[in-house]
Amino acid sequence: MRIDVLTVFPEMVEHAASQSIVGRARRSGALDVRAWDLRDFTADRHRTTDDSPYGGGVGMVMKVEPIDAALRAIGATDDGGTRDAHVVLMSPQGQKLDQELVRVLASYGRIVLICGRYEGVDERVREHLVDREVSIGDYVLTGGELPALVLMDAVSRLVPGVLGKGESADDESFSEGLLEYPHYTRPEEYRGWRAPDVLLSGHHAEVATWRRRESLRRTLERRPDLLPGARLTAKDRADLKELGANEKLLDSLGEPSE
Ligand SMILES: C[S@@+](CC[C@H](N)C(=O)[O-])C[C@H]1O[C@@H](n2cnc3c(N)ncnc32)[C@H](O)[C@@H]1O
Repeated sequence: MRIDVLTVFPEMVEHAASQSIVGRARRSGALDVRAWDLRDFTADRHRTTDDSPYGGGVGMVMKVEPIDAALRAIGATDDGGTRDAHVVLMSPQGQKLDQELVRVLASYGRIVLICGRYEGVDERVREHLVDREVSIGDYVLTGGELPALVLMDAVSRLVPGVLGKGESADDESFSEGLLEYPHYTRPEEYRGWRAPDVLLSGHHAEVATWRRRESLRRTLERRPDLLPGARLTAKDRADLKELGANEKLLDSLGEPSE
């Protein structure tokens, strides 16, 4: 998969995207990440990427021309405006990023992430140059680079060949609409705090049953709003009832799956 990032701080993206799993995936060729400096797509001597807002007011607004020029120069759109990539504007006003949206974005062969700064981006970018706007949460950051890196990190994990052996995207929070079960590792006991005996038993079926139930318990306690959308078996429903789920919640669950 290819991910292009348009930014006025390419080193910020380049640095973060050269570490850890994303960095390894870039070196192996599973991911092609390119950070582009929007200043390289300006036409004036001062390499201007922002200007004061029409109508007055404080702050600066990112200009439309460098962004349009960059999208064409990197082959994300052609001169007629046809897109060869899925173009995303990072914005606190966009669709909130969740695992479902991450899955959708990971299904594209190429995405472009546009990072705003200052007061934001000329509205014509949103109107004419992007496919969607994505927010990483209901708070405002100083720029789109960290949101772009968050999105890139989450999407990368779903790209074939990015996670190595022993790293899996299947069995974790949100993969089945539930939060993941808790983890423990050596020692068996630390300051009197014991790891659950079932995990030390070596009994795979019992471990799996315990994990599923803990996953249900956690989701019920912390994120009951996820349960109506989760894939649940008849046994899961019975467990939820035992764990104290109320009738209203139980009634809101979909049809049991196998
Ligand atoms: C200071 S913000 C601009 C906020 C804008 N004035 C508003 O009220 O919607 C500058 C840039 O940071 C990025 N940004 C800030 N918060 C974000 C968030 N929660 N999710 C995604 N991008 C964000 C966007 O690219 C935005 O254009």
